[in-house]
Amino acid sequence: MGVGFSIPEAVNGSPQPETDLRAPTYHEDIASIILDNCSSCHHPKGGAPFDLMSYKDVRRRGRQIVQVTQERYMPPWKAEPGFGEFEGARVLEKESLALIEAWVKGGMKEGNPEKSPEIPKYESGWRLGKPDLVVQMKEPYLIPAEGPELYERFVIPLDLEKDQYIKAAEFRPTSPQGVHHVFIMRTNKSRQKGGDGLGFEGELLEGWTPGAITRFLPEGVSKQILKGDYLVLRSHLKPSGKAEYEQSQIGLYFGDAPKRVLTGMRLHNNSMDIPAGDNNYVVSDSLVVPADSDAIGIAAHCHYLGREVRATATFPDGSSKWLLLIKDWDFNWQEHFRYKEPVYLPKGTRIDMTIVFDNSGKNPQNPFNPPRRVRYGGTSTDEMAIMYVEVLLKNESDFPEFKNLLIEGKRKRKEEVRRKREKLKKEMQEKANKKD
Ligand code: HEC
Repeated sequence: MGVGFSIPEAVNGSPQPETDLRAPTYHEDIASIILDNCSSCHHPKGGAPFDLMSYKDVRRRGRQIVQVTQERYMPPWKAEPGFGEFEGARVLEKESLALIEAWVKGGMKEGNPEKSPEIPKYESGWRLGKPDLVVQMKEPYLIPAEGPELYERFVIPLDLEKDQYIKAAEFRPTSPQGVHHVFIMRTNKSRQKGGDGLGFEGELLEGWTPGAITRFLPEGVSKQILKGDYLVLRSHLKPSGKAEYEQSQIGLYFGDAPKRVLTGMRLHNNSMDIPAGDNNYVVSDSLVVPADSDAIGIAAHCHYLGREVRATATFPDGSSKWLLLIKDWDFNWQEHFRYKEPVYLPKGTRIDMTIVFDNSGKNPQNPFNPPRRVRYGGTSTDEMAIMYVEVLLKNESDFPEFKNLLIEGKRKRKEEVRRKREKLKKEMQEKANKKD
C-alpha cells in the first residue's frame, strides 16, 4: 500500500500540494494487488487469455483493468459478499480499486523494481501445486468444430500400489473451450458391468465446470480410493467452432485417513417449463437435514438463463441464515464454494434453494434470439436447477439417513419426469385434436 499517498483526492483528480503526494507506482503499489488477485489465472498456464505478471503486461492493459475491476467483472467472484463467508473470496478492497485507478490516471509509473514483491512461480501448471499422481486420458479425443454436444465416458486406470486417501482431484482440460462439464468418478472391477469399464456404478470424486477452482478438503477430511480403482470421466463436450483435441489430465493429491465422514445433500428441480420472454421464472426445492452436521461447501448449477441463485438454512428455532446468494449468475464462473468456517446444521434444519431464470431477450446470455420456450434437459440450451451442499456428519452412524435423503431425492425427480412426460403427451394430443 502506498505511503504518504492520499487516495480520495487522487481519484477525484484534484491535484494536492506536491508535498504530501506521491503518484502510485507499479512496483510499490500495484504489483502486490495484481500478483495476489490476478496472476493465479493470468499466467501462461492459468487459463486466462493473457498474462498479468509484469509491469509491461499490466501497463499494456491499464485502462481496461480499471474498467473490469470497477465493474467487479474481474477478479471473477459470483458470491455476494455478506451472504455466506467463503474461503479464497476473490473480492478487491475499495482501496485497491482506487489505487489502480489512480495509478492509471497518474500515467502508470513503473517505480523502483527493487521494491516489487516476489513474482510467484507457476511452473507445474497445477493450481494446487505438484500433484502426487497425474493421470491422463489414454488417447486424445477429437471434438469437432460443429455439431451436437457430446456425452462421452473415458476410463483411466490408476495403477495404485496401495489404498490411498485423497485431499483433492484437480482437473485440467487441454481444450477448456470444448469442455462443458466433467464428473470425475471412481470405480473398480467389482462394480463393473461391461468389459469396457463403461457399464459401471461409481462414486463422484469431483466435478469440474468452467471457472471451477479446485480446493483442498479441510483438515481431517479426505476421500478414499482403493488399490485397483480406476477413474471414469463422464465428460460433456461441446463443439466450440474450432476442431480441438481433448486429452484431460487429473492431478491427485494424497493425504491421511479422514477423522469425520463427508457426504452431500442435493437439491434439484427439473420441472421447469420457461415461457419465451419470461424474465422472472422461479424454481425451488427444499429438504430437511436428517441429522446434526456441518456444511463445509456449496455449489449450484444451472445454464445460460439462470439469473439469481439463493440458498438459505432455516434452523429449528425459526432463525435463518444465508448459505449462498448469486445475483448475477454466469455459466462461465461456476464455483464450488467452501465456507471459511463450517455452518452448523442441526437435525431438522430446512434448506431452501431458489433459482430465478430470465428467458427474455434482455438476458445477454440467452442462447436464443428471439427467446424460445425452454425446459429441463442435459444440453446447454436446456435448463437445470441443482444445488449440492457438502456436509460433515457429527455422528458416523447417521450416514444411512443422508443416503436415504439422496435416494428419496432421486425418486422424487423420477416422478417429476413422469408427470412432465404426461403433460407433454397431453399437450401434443390437444394440438393434434385441434388440427382434426
Ligand atoms: C479465476 C481466474 C481469474 C482471475 C483471478 C482473474 N481473471 Fe481476468 N480473466 C480470466 C478469464 C478466464 C478471462 C477471459 C474470459 C472473460 O473475459 O471472462 C479474463 C479476462 C480478463 C480481462 C479481459 C476482459 C474482456 O472484457 O475482454 C481483463 C482486463 C482481466 N481479465 C483482468 C483481470 C484483473 C485485473 C484481475 C485481477 C484483479 C483478473 N483479471 C483476475 C480469469 C481470471
